[in-house]
Amino acid sequence: MAGNSIGKEFTVTTFGESHGKVVGVVVDGCPAGLPLSEADIQIDLDRRIPADPKIVSGRIEKDTVKILSGIFNGFTTGAPIALMVENREVDSSDYKTIKDLPRPGHADYPARVKYGGFQDYRGGGRFSGRVTVAIIMAGAVAKKLLSQFDVDVLAYTSAIGEVKTDKKFSAEEIRKNRYSASTRCPDFACAEKMKQAVVDARKEGESVGGIVECMALNVPVGVGEPMFDSLDADLAKALFNVPAVKAVEFGLGFEIAELKGSESNDAFVMQSGKVATSTENMGGVLGGLSNGMPIVMRIAIKPTPSISKGQKTVNLSTLKAADLSVKGRHDPCVVPKAVPAVEAAVAVTLADHMIRAGLIPKVLERQK
Ligand SMILES: Cc1cc2nc3c(=O)[nH]c(=O)nc-3n(C[C@H](O)[C@H](O)[C@H](O)COP(=O)(O)O)c2cc1C
Repeated sequence: MAGNSIGKEFTVTTFGESHGKVVGVVVDGCPAGLPLSEADIQIDLDRRIPADPKIVSGRIEKDTVKILSGIFNGFTTGAPIALMVENREVDSSDYKTIKDLPRPGHADYPARVKYGGFQDYRGGGRFSGRVTVAIIMAGAVAKKLLSQFDVDVLAYTSAIGEVKTDKKFSAEEIRKNRYSASTRCPDFACAEKMKQAVVDARKEGESVGGIVECMALNVPVGVGEPMFDSLDADLAKALFNVPAVKAVEFGLGFEIAELKGSESNDAFVMQSGKVATSTENMGGVLGGLSNGMPIVMRIAIKPTPSISKGQKTVNLSTLKAADLSVKGRHDPCVVPKAVPAVEAAVAVTLADHMIRAGLIPKVLERQK
């Protein structure tokens, strides 16, 4: 079965390739009555490419969303919402030379085997980071829907290469500052050091990875469908479909393995008349269900595969060893561009699960 769709009630189907005509998405199952305009979607698209030529690839697409269906008089109708942007800044010349030379770390080799050489390899085709535009557009719809129920999804860069911020930010600080610095770190002194790490990597023909932290706030208790559609499992699934994601942790994540139960358990307490926990080691999920606390995830992003530094590969036509130095327009670090994609992956999953949990109705406001 093809795997271009995600979600059970709020479903997202993406289409398009890096160097094709368009990148688009169909969102089905969005309740009727949600006020939605191009501006709601454009804001997240504009957050994708930091306005800093020093740290992004030379391909700057001025993505302008077109809403093709599903909106009438400024409100969602309950019909599928089709959204697209055009690919304009396409230059495929560098890809002809590497058609037979799979880039180490990229999807070229397994994609060629799986699709028999028919796959669109230009710009990474379907495996390009450009395809995150589709999930970002769907995520903007999901965020608008979630905002009607006070649920907020916020992500930021907490590490690039070895440069990390240890600061604990308030939700308000993250909401306000997460897209201010080009590296998407709300600790501005650290953001500058991160930028330098990216600039240095680029100079050496190298790339760097990093960590995105994401939190979902005000998710009601009990969202998630165990056994196999547990909330953490579905969030991780959506996040692993953002290209270059190599690890997803909730709460303390791998660190929790070293603790005793008395250290790791989050004690229940009463806070403002509600059951809460005094610590947040579990990341807001117990038994695959939200526990009412912030859902906190850390997502590890690998260094960009395409680097100009020389690498070893195999020529797939001759099956002989070959040297490769990747040319073309590549991000020396994809972490900043991944931040809105992470928010989107989390938002579409939460929208789907809140509808499934009966917390979001099929019609938001019934007309008289
Ligand atoms: C926003 C974004 C932009 C990306 N840009 C590039 C790029 O310019 N060059 C590149 O080699 N990989 C880039 N990637 C990473 C590849 O798409 C990804 O590593 C590849 O498809 C293999 O998939 P995997 O890393 O998930 O295994 C980008 C990823 C994201 C999320």
